[in-house]
Amino acid sequence: MQKNDTIRIINLPKIEDERGNLSFIEEDNHIPFHIKRVYWIYDVPGGEFRGSHAFRESEEFIVALSGSFDIIVHQGIEEKKFSLTRSYYGLYIPKLVFRRLENFSTNSLALILSSTLYNEMDYIRDFKEFLTLVK
Ligand code: TYD
Repeated sequence: MQKNDTIRIINLPKIEDERGNLSFIEEDNHIPFHIKRVYWIYDVPGGEFRGSHAFRESEEFIVALSGSFDIIVHQGIEEKKFSLTRSYYGLYIPKLVFRRLENFSTNSLALILSSTLYNEMDYIRDFKEFLTLVK
């Protein structure tokens, strides 16, 4: 898959038959990075939000495996909202994007594929610092 820095919805394969549906993700094929880490967010209380940070290096691909939630992204100019409501597509987020996950439905499950191992030093948690960095 061609590398580019655009935040974008990526559609995944959806194999349908009478037994139900199956989708899958292959690194370098459906998403433009090597997968170093997988984590998931679940049991989010109503009204709670997650994220509220950017990464210096990490790229991520986020799928709503179950339920739905919104992802608010900011690259330095304006906010944009993506609603994830089905498990056969996801949102690709390149590095240096401030993001917030919110509006989680009951029993929603967010699957996140990351291009890096966990490293707290990769986080930019201060929005003003983020803006300074991307300008
Ligand atoms: P954080 O990334 O701040 O959560 P979110 O962005 O979903 O709101 O992570 C919450 C805590 O979990 C923080 O103490 C770091 C830890 N953590 C790990 O140890 N490994 C990981 O892969 C992730 C994503 C978080």
